[in-house]
Amino acid sequence: MRNFVLLVVGLVSLTLLAHAESAQQENREQAETILIPFKQDLQQALREGLSRGPVEAVSACQLQAPKIADGISQDGIRVGRTSHRLRNPDNRSPKWARPILEEYLAEPSARTPRSLALADGRVGYVEPIYMQSLCLTCHGESLATDVADEITRRYPQDQAIGFKLGELRGIFWLEFPAAEELSLGDG
Ligand code: HEC
Repeated sequence: MRNFVLLVVGLVSLTLLAHAESAQQENREQAETILIPFKQDLQQALREGLSRGPVEAVSACQLQAPKIADGISQDGIRVGRTSHRLRNPDNRSPKWARPILEEYLAEPSARTPRSLALADGRVGYVEPIYMQSLCLTCHGESLATDVADEITRRYPQDQAIGFKLGELRGIFWLEFPAAEELSLGDG
């Protein structure tokens, strides 16, 4: 009898675990989809800015980046970029995402996209942002003098230079309403 109870408990746990995992997978896929236009618009703003020169691109980025995030942040969705070394202090991390950023920093093998349950049935999602060669112009180790000056002028507290290619630059984060509540017995 005891074994039977253990077996049932085990099976129920496994089912719940599988359910929780598929819900997590679903959340991650939904988050990735929401982030696509955010990333595309940021890239486009950056490339357009850079086509007018890197100094111009700094102001384009300052102007466009918050607008792009605001544009996507609708219908209970909030998106943003943050970092352990911020350029714009307004890009501070939401509190719930901070421990994940810390973990990413401490352990490169832990840099996998994450989804987690937040309060009020909302879902949080985080994924790493890495330095690409395009980024070195404004976040790298040796900046052109005019670019460095423009950055200091616009961001007197800038901490976002000195990054190497491939280094963790920060994270994309996202909050959205859960598609389905995880509950007992809903198959
Ligand atoms: C033309 C200069 C320029 C280039 C090139 C550039 N950035 Fe930035 N980056 C900025 C500026 C300016 C900000 C601050 C935007 C704001 O005010 O919100 C910023 C902000 C950020 C932030 C938000 C966190 C923070 O520090 O405020 C991240 C993350 C980031 N950049 C990553 C990247 C990555 C990754 C690349 C390469 C794909 C890149 N940047 C290329 C200028 C640049």
